[in-house]
Amino acid sequence: MADRILMHVGPSRGNIEVAESAAVHDQGFSSSEFSEKMRLTLKGILEISGAASGYSPFVIPGSGTAAMESLTTFLSPGDNVLVLSHGTFGDRWKGIFSRYPVNVRSLRSAPGKHLKIEDIRKAASDQHYRMAIMTHVETSTGLRADLEAIIDSVRQSADIIVVDSVASLGGERLELSKLGIDVTVSASQKAIGAAPGAGIIVASNDAIEKIRDGGLSGYFLNLSNWRPVMEKFLDGSWGYFATPPIGVVYTMARALEMIRREGMESRLKRHSRLASLLRDGIEDMCLSIVAEPQYRSNTVTGVYVNGIDSSEFIRKCLKSGVEFADGALPELKGKYFRIGHMGWVQEQDIIRSLDAIRKTLSEIK
Ligand SMILES: Cc1ncc(COP(=O)(O)O)c(C=O)c1O
Repeated sequence: MADRILMHVGPSRGNIEVAESAAVHDQGFSSSEFSEKMRLTLKGILEISGAASGYSPFVIPGSGTAAMESLTTFLSPGDNVLVLSHGTFGDRWKGIFSRYPVNVRSLRSAPGKHLKIEDIRKAASDQHYRMAIMTHVETSTGLRADLEAIIDSVRQSADIIVVDSVASLGGERLELSKLGIDVTVSASQKAIGAAPGAGIIVASNDAIEKIRDGGLSGYFLNLSNWRPVMEKFLDGSWGYFATPPIGVVYTMARALEMIRREGMESRLKRHSRLASLLRDGIEDMCLSIVAEPQYRSNTVTGVYVNGIDSSEFIRKCLKSGVEFADGALPELKGKYFRIGHMGWVQEQDIIRSLDAIRKTLSEIK
């Protein structure tokens, strides 16, 4: 169905040039062509995450969740971990780390609301943490966390500050060096706008040096196994630990090249302008947005559908050729849906999305 547009929260709105770049034939991971694509991808990731010198990038097969679990490399038995959750993907950290011998303390906000900074300060003052984790854009609601305020509250109480930028890297400003973020995890298929299939990690070399006895991670996701490989690719050579997602890396290299051409500042402005256009259109239809106004992201918007079943609503929108995502917060099941507006999204996509919502509302009423 060529005329359908994907306004999902991930994979996000596609770009044909990026998609076609994956069509490579007879190319192995030790070829000079692939080595160059991987080098450009790793460099591009450092650039868009605001990582000055002293950070190491990783691209591993899998997805954002693989990148999340790989952070067990930084943990040892008995470590304390503080999870600051604004929804389903914040909660996922607790789900992952509960499988390991560490102590997880989690704070969770009400849907669409930002955690109270005084509650974070209190949790931070109660004990010392090996790791404090926050999600930049909580994809289950579209809330963008105030990273600066949160990091300021936990900095003195945590050795390693982690930010999940799966739904923000490439569409929201992320400044690892400036904010003193030690590690971020992301994925290929969201605001970067490449194909799904790779997890991304950017870690400070200081954090990497703090790894004790190889960490808690098992074999495949242990970053100590991936680091020498990434160093080789960064150096223009190649390395092997496990087979890289070759086609996906090609799309990442192309997407990052296009991001460089667009310019990160212009890209951020585009995301911000289109997010405002979308939100205004939604509110003009008297629909409510899930995230509270000062914390609305430029990449994802959750929308309440006022007594209509959300899965039926998005099914009907599909008839107008627009694919949205259903809600993902268990406590709001059936009450809201989500729009992804990141990556290659353009103004006509927003207009078409608003038209699809308007048409569906008038059909249902
Ligand atoms: C904020 C956030 N973190 C983590 C994930 C998990 O990523 P993946 O689905 O690529 O495993 C997602 C996926 O939507 C996400 O939005």
